[in-house]
This record gives sequence, C-alpha cells and structure tokens, in this order.
Amino acid sequence: MSVLLEVNDLHVRYGSYEAVKGVSFALAKGEILGIVGESGSGKSTIAKTLMGLQKASGGTILFARDRNVASPLRGVVPSMQMIFQDAVGSLNPRMTVRQTLGEIIEFSNRRIIESRRSGTRPLTRRERIQAFDNSIIRLLDLVGLSSAVLDQYPREMSGGQCQRVSIARALACQPEILIADEPVSALDVSVQARVLNLLRDLRRDLGLSILLIAHDLAVVKNVCDRICVMEKGRFVDCGAAAEVFEHPTSDYTKRLLAAVPRIS
Ligand SMILES: Nc1ncnc2c1ncn2[C@@H]1O[C@H](COP(=O)(O)OP(=O)(O)OP(=O)(O)O)[C@@H](O)[C@H]1O
Ligand SMILES: [Mg+2]
Repeated sequence: MSVLLEVNDLHVRYGSYEAVKGVSFALAKGEILGIVGESGSGKSTIAKTLMGLQKASGGTILFARDRNVASPLRGVVPSMQMIFQDAVGSLNPRMTVRQTLGEIIEFSNRRIIESRRSGTRPLTRRERIQAFDNSIIRLLDLVGLSSAVLDQYPREMSGGQCQRVSIARALACQPEILIADEPVSALDVSVQARVLNLLRDLRRDLGLSILLIAHDLAVVKNVCDRICVMEKGRFVDCGAAAEVFEHPTSDYTKRLLAAVPRIS
C-alpha cells in the first residue's frame, strides 16, 4: 500500500508547554486511521500542525502524492482538507449551501470552462450556470443530501446536515487526505452512525485516506483500520483496530476501553 503521509517524531509547543511530545505515524492510501484520546491530549494540535495552521517545533512531516489518481486540480490546490468539530460554527452563517460550495466549485469550473475554450465554441452563460449547479448537486449527492438544501442557510439545517455540508466543502477540493477532527461528537448517536458510514463510503468510492480524530473509542471502533491512542502528547498504543481493542498494552487504553458503554 502506498503511504501518502508520514509523520516522524513530531513535537509541537505552545510557548513553554509541549502539547505533542514525539509522535510518529503513517497514513496509507485508502486507509482510515483513528487518533483517540481524552480532552487535552494533543489530537487537534496534530491536526492543526498537519494543515499548517500550527508550527511544529521538531520532527518531520512528509507528504507523497498518489500518482495513480487523475485529478484536474492536481498541483493547484492542497491535496489535504480538514473538517472541523463544530460543523455549524465552521460554516459562514450568511452563506447558503449553494454559495458555500459554489465558492470552491467556481474555481474548479473555471478550469473546465477554460479547457472548453480551445474547443469548438465557448460555453453560453446558461451552460455555465448549469455546469456550476450540476457540480454542486454532484457534491451534495456524494454526502447524501438532496438539492432541496441548496438555498438554505446553516441555521435552517440540522447539525447532521451541516456536518454533511462541511464534508462536501472539503471534498470539493478533491483531496487525497481528509482530516476529520471530532466530526460526530456534536451529533446524536443515530446521526453519528450515518456520518461515520458516510466516511467509510467515501473511502470506498473515492479511495480517500482519512485521519479520524475522536475522544470516544466507540466512535472509531467500527470505522478505523488502525488506531493510535494518545495520552498527554504521546501515543501509548498503536495498531490494527481489532488488536488495540482485544489486546491493549497500556493502562490508559484499558481504562478508556472500560469506559466504553456496553449493551448487554
Ligand atoms: N493555541 C493554544 N495555545 C496554548 N495552548 C494550547 C493551544 N491550543 C491547545 N493548547 C493546549 O494544548 C493541549 C492540547 O490541546 P488540543 O486542542 O490539541 O487537545 P485535544 O486532544 O484536541 O482535546 P479535545 O479532545 O478537548 O479537543 C491542551 O492542554 C491545550 O490547553
Ligand atoms: Mg480537539
């Protein structure tokens, strides 16, 4: 399997406080890797550092492009996107779904329109609008939303719908890697399952690699191929999901597992 992302001995400091203390992992193409740990363990700090929003104080982050994937945007936009924990808050309250997704689509459509220029005739205004709407509807379809939400504002949608729009917005850039920072913690259990299934489907259909961050082991259990358990800035357990669940090595993971509610 080809490795798309390799992190070696990553350290991140906020002033004198070291939030990430030497973390290493790799993410392969089409893999879902879970990072689990309690609040304050450093999970979001890793995500922010990967996205370039926070500076690493040590270690290396290496990216590889998947050369087998043909994308018209390759080399133009970053191949990694992040979806944020607070889906409603991460969307602009003054923008409809059409505007939110359109902003990004416009960029990719301009390239399609330009490539058509070399053809027989330029697209008419009507054709351009149609191509624009079709691209947005295709994206909504990917995340299981209908075109009925096109003209809705975030406040007019449910938390689960907003989360799907924020996933669609991330997918609009055709990323190879999706970082999902607590994508379901604000949602109720049945909507959680649907959004997690969606991530699994996207991996299957688009070959996406996903870094799934959660504080709840139950959330990652059925979705991730591998899991890294994080405690106070370090990984204390890492391995195939089933292995970590059946044979945890650290006391911390055992305590987290004991806290997972069981239905008997
Ligand atoms: N911008 C910042 N400045 C200073 N300290 C910060 C900053 N961001 C995070 N921290 C600290 O770094 C530590 C790790 O924070 P981080 O947000 O990575 O944790 P987390 O594992 O994502 O937690 P949660 O599950 O609550 O989201 C915490 O102790 C936090 O207080
Ligand atoms: Mg966090």
